[in-house]
Amino acid sequence: MIINYRSMNKDVYILGIESSCDETAAAVFHNDLMLSNVIASQDIHKLYGGVVPELASRAHQQKIILVVDAALKEAKVSKNDLSAVAFTRGPGLIGALLVGVSFAKSMALALEIPLIEVNHMQAHVLAHFIQRNGNEKLRMQNAELNPKSEIRNPKFPFLCLTVSGGHTQIVLVKDYLDMQIIGETLDDAAGEAFDKGAKIMGLPYPGGPLIDELAKKGNPNAYKFPHPYVERLNFSFSGLKTSMLYFIRDNMKNDSLFVEKNKADICASLQRTIIEVLIDKLQLAAMQHGIKEIAIAGGVSANSGLRSALSAMKEKEGWNVYIPDFEFCTDNAAMIAIAGYYKYLVKDFADQSVTPLARMEF
Ligand code: KG4
Ligand code: ZN
Repeated sequence: MIINYRSMNKDVYILGIESSCDETAAAVFHNDLMLSNVIASQDIHKLYGGVVPELASRAHQQKIILVVDAALKEAKVSKNDLSAVAFTRGPGLIGALLVGVSFAKSMALALEIPLIEVNHMQAHVLAHFIQRNGNEKLRMQNAELNPKSEIRNPKFPFLCLTVSGGHTQIVLVKDYLDMQIIGETLDDAAGEAFDKGAKIMGLPYPGGPLIDELAKKGNPNAYKFPHPYVERLNFSFSGLKTSMLYFIRDNMKNDSLFVEKNKADICASLQRTIIEVLIDKLQLAAMQHGIKEIAIAGGVSANSGLRSALSAMKEKEGWNVYIPDFEFCTDNAAMIAIAGYYKYLVKDFADQSVTPLARMEF
């Protein structure tokens, strides 16, 4: 079925709500234009070296009303003008999701407007279609300066490497709501490889951004970590974690300050390995599917090494690459609202019996 989304464009106002992990977030959109994007992060988890599900649920309960209220105020949109409420149904932590789902249901019921369920991983991909004031100007400037620049929307079909704390997927995106996972991790996610690697080195949670920072000062070829062999377009990162564990343990036996002295080199080497694994599979997927429109999404797409490795593929492989703005890489509700907008256009509504899903396919 061919859907002409643009011709269906009218004045649609969507409230998006995200509560799948440790960010309580709400955003308001006018059609595909972002009017507000509010995120309350939960710092409490830093104390425990990872997300504690029960604390996440409680923090969502505490923050959700304030966050939704702030998003509406910042957007200057009254709740009575909303066309629909979109929410993350899954995948994620069940207790955390329950807060957002229940809130969205109550709000839609009270306002007598449709309810729209969104798959969090699809939303990461759709973050590439978020428009914001000034985007148009920026896009035109950029297109003139560099015809292969990132500030454009990917054209269908494209491939999206979606890399987050819980998932690593290569997605074949045929249309806004027509996506197929063609490769995924068989064990740990790329974000986990960063976070667990950091934990082994004694760095706080979340380790990804810290490794990224430290890696900038290190030598990426200082140490060699094994690349896993995994069939087809799938990934595996659990072996990397184990080899990192043994590598640190063995070197600490000889020198208890080994990590302290070589932190930047270890981070740069670990990061290089993760990026090589990701880019190799992406290259294979692009070749197999004959696609040169390539995007990245999810928390790990904030990684500066991955961003530049992908940019380098513009020259090397002639790819058109699409890299999200930093604020749309990690979890946010703008991506839920944009997904909600495209679902609204085709009237893909949920009913009040909908429940969250810790695991959710698409
Ligand atoms: O998409 P996201 O915010 O949440 C999930 O849906 O999981 O992704 C969070 C993940 C964490 O593992 C975090 O360490 C990683 O993204 N991350 C990074 C960077 N920023 C966030 N990993 C590497 N480099 C970064 N700059
Ligand atoms: Zn995410």
